[in-house]
Amino acid sequence: MSNAEFRNTGLERAESLAKDLAWFKEQGYSIPEPSSPGLNYSAYVEELSKKDPQAFICHFYNTYFAHSAGGRMIGKKVAEMILNGKELEFYKWDGDLKQLLQNVRDKLNKVAENWTREEKNHCLEETEKSFKFSGEILRLILS
Ligand code: HEM
Repeated sequence: MSNAEFRNTGLERAESLAKDLAWFKEQGYSIPEPSSPGLNYSAYVEELSKKDPQAFICHFYNTYFAHSAGGRMIGKKVAEMILNGKELEFYKWDGDLKQLLQNVRDKLNKVAENWTREEKNHCLEETEKSFKFSGEILRLILS
């Protein structure tokens, strides 16, 4: 599998995150350097992207779909409660989010059609790690 079809899906968040960080900086907050939970996770998925497509896809799915589902709800609450309703760029997508998600869902299902039962199981079993790594990043907020 080449990951080409999973690039430029419209779900990417890096540019909007950069804009939000710039906004926070303007507000006088200091922006911390990436620390070990994020660095570890990105190194791990980068490694998977080269050698374990099924496991990689699990992280791909969980990351983008979490941000657009529960993440959006959390983002809205946080904005209401502590940002005076400021809508962060992170929660704005170019185009119709529902449609972007459906396009990616279709691609994921298509790729997985060619997987064996074992490969599908391998993808699903990676979910635990996906929550573990993301949970560590989430916990930074509480630290
Ligand atoms: C504070 C922690 C979290 C909360 C409160 C939360 C909340 C939610 C909620 C409310 C939904 C349903 C949204 C809807 O019905 O549209 C959802 C969906 C989802 N969440 Fe979470 N979540 C959390 C953490 C995570 C983490 C750590 C992951 C993965 C690493 C994750 C992955 C997903 C996925 C894949 C969906 C389904 C998206 C879809 O079907 O489109 N969530 N979450």
